[in-house]
Amino acid sequence: MPFYLQQGHIPAKRHTVFKKYDGSLLYEELMSREGFSYVYSNLYHIHMPTQIANIGKFYSNKFESSFDKTHRPRHIRTSELVSAGDIISSRKLLFFNQDLNIYKSHVTENMSYIDCDDNFYKNGNYDELIYVQEGEGVIHTQLGDLKYHNGDYIIIPRGIVWKMSISKDTKILIIESVAPIETPQKYRNRVGQLLEHSPFCERDIHTPVLNEPINKSGKFLIKVRTDRGIQDIFYSKHPFDVVGWDGYYFPWKLNIDDFEPIVGSIHQPPPVHQVFQSKGFVVCSFVSRLFDFHPDAIPAPYPHSNVDSDEILFYSKGDFMSRKGIQSESISYHPMGIPHGPHPGKYEGSIGKKSTDELAVMVDTFKPLNIALDADECDDSEYPKSWVL
Ligand SMILES: [Fe+2]
Repeated sequence: MPFYLQQGHIPAKRHTVFKKYDGSLLYEELMSREGFSYVYSNLYHIHMPTQIANIGKFYSNKFESSFDKTHRPRHIRTSELVSAGDIISSRKLLFFNQDLNIYKSHVTENMSYIDCDDNFYKNGNYDELIYVQEGEGVIHTQLGDLKYHNGDYIIIPRGIVWKMSISKDTKILIIESVAPIETPQKYRNRVGQLLEHSPFCERDIHTPVLNEPINKSGKFLIKVRTDRGIQDIFYSKHPFDVVGWDGYYFPWKLNIDDFEPIVGSIHQPPPVHQVFQSKGFVVCSFVSRLFDFHPDAIPAPYPHSNVDSDEILFYSKGDFMSRKGIQSESISYHPMGIPHGPHPGKYEGSIGKKSTDELAVMVDTFKPLNIALDADECDDSEYPKSWVL
């Protein structure tokens, strides 16, 4: 994030002697992007964070494409996906390309792996964006806790050790991104502050609250996501032994209800709905809003050919104004090469409407997506023909 945060206890100068009350030394860890040349935070541990006790098993994951290779619009009813388990085991891969992987996950339990005193997760290769469709709980991280609830976008940059504690079953959409997930550049000034015309500002961004450090020895499992699978690594010290940290690198969250829509006299295109940027894709939030106020405005979108984007729309809640037959948690997929637009009647029917009550998350990718095998499970094969009059 492009702002500075400080929590807990840190020394006056970085890279200097820093001691506990008992006189023992604390250990600094630098967590930084792009080598040592981009954002970073410094964490202060009770123990050296490098104390590997044992290298465990490696679980490879091979991404398998759908059996159906036809190039067509798709409607995937993700509420019907058979998904259960913890934050790792419940993930169902739906789409992937060189820049990102998109999963739906119904988290029904906390991580509980045998033969260890506690267990955690760390993504070593991707930044994660989690959209909470429904559920409640806490993301516990080395840098502090983030409570979550319906509508939260949670950004967990790679390298941070965390685990999820659910207090209610939690349905989420997950994006793993090869590049950092950031606020749109167009809404930032030269020093990174969100500009006046940004649809959200720093007050809407929630950051972790650091707890007392945990000073425990034992057998602590960190499941590390790599580009090829998951590696179990056992450490001899609890990873949440951080007494303080500071910097620009931390997990954060923003609720979709805090996204203030930008409206106009005529139809506003998707870029006004943008909420995040990354390399190879953007994320947009379609929220409840007043419609266009020109007397002859057509509020529904015009048919469009975004000739170099694949479009994913996740319908979170409400009555999506341009589509029929779509239900909550549906995903529509519109690939390059095929124009798309409102369903029959929705274009004409939108004229004169004053507002829309909808909540949807859009992911536009700049490289074609592969459809994953799990997407076949709840594919609506009649969808491509649903525009015929
Ligand atoms: Fe579109």
